[in-house]
Amino acid sequence: MSQYENVQNILKQSPKVWLVTGVAGFIGSNLLEFLLGLGQRVVGLDNFATGHQRNLDEVKLKVGGEAWSNFTFINGDIRKLTDCENACQGVDYVLHQAALGSVPRSLNDPITTNSTNIDGFLNILVAARDAKVKSFTYAASSSTYGDHPGLPKVEDIIGKPLSPYAVTKYVNELYADVFARCYGFNTIGLRYFNVFGQRQDPEGAYAAVIPKWAAAMIENEDIYINGDGETSRDFCFIENTVQANILAATTVSESAKNQVFNVAVSGRTTLNLLYSTLQETLAQCGVVYNKKPIYREFRAGDVRHSQADISKIQSLLGYKPEFGMVAGVEKAMPWYIGFVGANS
Ligand SMILES: NC(=O)c1ccc[n+]([C@@H]2O[C@H](COP(=O)([O-])OP(=O)(O)OC[C@H]3O[C@@H](n4cnc5c(N)ncnc54)[C@H](O)[C@@H]3O)[C@@H](O)[C@H]2O)c1
Repeated sequence: MSQYENVQNILKQSPKVWLVTGVAGFIGSNLLEFLLGLGQRVVGLDNFATGHQRNLDEVKLKVGGEAWSNFTFINGDIRKLTDCENACQGVDYVLHQAALGSVPRSLNDPITTNSTNIDGFLNILVAARDAKVKSFTYAASSSTYGDHPGLPKVEDIIGKPLSPYAVTKYVNELYADVFARCYGFNTIGLRYFNVFGQRQDPEGAYAAVIPKWAAAMIENEDIYINGDGETSRDFCFIENTVQANILAATTVSESAKNQVFNVAVSGRTTLNLLYSTLQETLAQCGVVYNKKPIYREFRAGDVRHSQADISKIQSLLGYKPEFGMVAGVEKAMPWYIGFVGANS
C-alpha cells in the first residue's frame, strides 16, 4: 500500500479538522472536495479576491449534503489577524493556499501582492502557531528558483527572484524557517510548479496558460504564445498537488518538518507541445480548433525553463504523482468544455 493510501485510510477512521485558506480558489476548492470526500471536517477562509462562490457550489454538488455539512466557511481576509485567529480555532491541520498569484499581477500592483502574500502569510502563521495546530503546510512556488539556470531544480539551489510575486513567495519560506528556529513552530512549504486542472480560472487578465488556451480553443479565439514557444514548464495536475498537501500535513517524520519540497512531475513541456496536446485532447472531445498560434514578445518576469527534481518529496514524504501532463489534460478538458458552454 502506498503512503498516500495508508494516510487516507487513517484519516477515514479518525477524521481531523482542516483549515484551507483560499478555499474558493482553484487549489483550495480541490483540497476541499478531496477532504470532504474523505469524511474530514473543513474550515475554509476566503475573501473572493480571485476565488469564486461557483467553486464552492460545485464542490457542494459533487460531495453531497452530508459531507457538505462538515464544512464551515468564513468570509474573511488573511490581512486581518482576527480573521486568521478565528479560522485557526480548534484546527488540526492548516493548508495555507490564500495568496494573490500571477507574476504579471505582481508587476502591475506589487503593493497588494505584497500585503496579501507577506502580511497575510505572517498573520496566518502567527494565528496557527498560537492555536497550536498539529501541522502547517503552505503554498510556496517554483518562482523562488528565479534566475538560477540549473535544471532540474533542486530545493536548496535558488537564484534571485524575477518578480515581486517571487519575492513574496521566497519571503514566506524565510518566515517559515525563522518560526521553526525562534518558536519551534515547524511548517512545510510546497513549491508548486504550474498546477492545472478543473476549476482553474480561465477568465481575466491573469489567467494561467492552460485554462486560458483551453477556453480560447473551445471558443475558437486566437491564441498568443509569448516568445518562440520553446519556453518549458513542469505542468502538474491538481490531483498530484492534493496528494502532496495531504502527505505533508500528516507526516510524522521529523526529517520532513521545516522543509520545502518541489511539487511537480519532473516533466518538461514546451508551450508548443502544450498547444498541440490541448488541440488533440479537445479534438478527442469533439472540439476542433485549427488556428495556428500567434507568436509575440517574451513576457517580462518569466523564467525560460522550469523542471523540478522531485526526489526529495518522493523520499521524505512518499509522494508518487499519479498523473503526467497528458493524463491531467485529458481529465481537465471536459470540465472546461462544460464551463465555457455554461458561461457563453
Ligand atoms: N496555480 C499554480 O500553478 C500555482 C503555482 C505556484 C504557487 N501557487 C500558489 O498556490 C496558492 C493557490 O493558488 P491558486 O492557483 O489556487 O489561485 P486562486 O487565485 O485560484 O486561489 C487563491 C485564493 O486565495 C484567495 N485570497 C486571495 N487573497 C486573499 C485574502 N487576502 N484573504 C483571503 N483569501 C484570499 C482568493 O480569493 C482565491 O480564492 C497560492 O498561494 C499561489 O500563489 C499556485
